[in-house]
Amino acid sequence: MRSRLPFPTLRTAPTEFFEEKRDDLGVWRLQDTFGRVARDLRVSLTDRCNLRCTYCMPADGLEWIPRPNTLDDDETIRLITLAVTMLGIRQVRFTGGEPLLRRGLESIIAATAALTADTGEPVTTALTTNGLGLDKSAAKLKAAGLHRVNISLDTLDADQYAALTRRDRHRDVLAGIDAALAAGLTPVKINAVIMPGVNETAILPLAEYCLDRGLQLRFIEHMPLGPRDSWDRKTLVTAEDIIRRLRDRFTLVASSKPRGAAPAQLWDVTGTTASGPVSGQIGVIAAVTHPFCGDCDRTRLTTDGMIRSCLFSHEETSLRDMMRAGASDAELAASWVRAMWRKKAGHGINDPRFVQPSRTMSAIGG
Ligand code: GTP
Ligand code: 5AD
Ligand code: SF4
Repeated sequence: MRSRLPFPTLRTAPTEFFEEKRDDLGVWRLQDTFGRVARDLRVSLTDRCNLRCTYCMPADGLEWIPRPNTLDDDETIRLITLAVTMLGIRQVRFTGGEPLLRRGLESIIAATAALTADTGEPVTTALTTNGLGLDKSAAKLKAAGLHRVNISLDTLDADQYAALTRRDRHRDVLAGIDAALAAGLTPVKINAVIMPGVNETAILPLAEYCLDRGLQLRFIEHMPLGPRDSWDRKTLVTAEDIIRRLRDRFTLVASSKPRGAAPAQLWDVTGTTASGPVSGQIGVIAAVTHPFCGDCDRTRLTTDGMIRSCLFSHEETSLRDMMRAGASDAELAASWVRAMWRKKAGHGINDPRFVQPSRTMSAIGG
């Protein structure tokens, strides 16, 4: 059942522009000129991280955003609340850097999980993490109201992991995955970015590991969002390359379930591993070779309070500055609506004029 939400009152009267972006209950929508409506909010809770994945950060890290420039817990909760209650957001995903490093994580999750979406259902909460420390926090996060987690694991080989993340923490991630399963943060999804000459050999072992444990593995095409010159279109390991390798060992059939706005194309997989016959699903996120921008339903809030309409945006809208200057919820919501209206058609990675955004992945939130 949908409950009626109050139409936000603006200090200035709503213009035709805003009237058009109301749904049938009078609630604003984060709609763009191509007709896409954002329902999924990705909130980056920190730009800091305890790994240095080569596809994401330089070896000596990045200059962190100074703390006073980042949103505190109350500011973060205020913007999430406004997005759900005034702007039609139905799922909130917490990202980083590494979101488990955020001190107020549990209270931010609890405040978010208490919100009701415009569907009348509680808002869905999810977290994308590198898994370090999850062995200790999974049960607490579940109790705070977290529904599910996606965990990065690019290889099962500890040496390869150490080379790729520049930290010797492989065992900790595996413990984090076990804890997420035990806590019921399901479906637990595993993210693996495949890099040429680095971890292509990890494709089949990762598939076996995940199929054996009921984890949904997603292989991700490397995107140009890390250190400059770390991405080369010519050597990209594509979705097709990954599927071909998986077919050496398993039977793959494209999932018949509608994909909606999900970035991963899912495959139903069957085969045999050392533990016997297995079946499950594996996804491929082919952002470069098969962009899914046309179905995108995402809006992003960075840890320093910027709205980004796209992972690859060059434009940001600072809700932090407005908030700190005393803006009302309605004024903040109106700025969010305006920012999303300007969302570009697609990321443009395959355009020769493509320019990588100045923020790296860790400061955007993936
Ligand atoms: P669910 O499907 O809801 O579980 O989450 P997700 O796959 O969208 O989130 P996750 O944080 O696990 O991201 C997996 C990969 O998809 C990462 O490499 C993200 O950068 C990428 N990704 C997420 N959202 C977008 C997007 O809007 N555009 C592009 N190009 N990539 C995205
Ligand atoms: N290309 C694709 N995926 C990336 N991630 C980080 N950097 C990149 C990149 N350059 C993934 C991480 C994590 C998610 C947030 O984004 O592996 O799973
Ligand atoms: Fe940290 Fe994630 Fe970047 Fe790796 S990809 S360095 S885990 S933010």
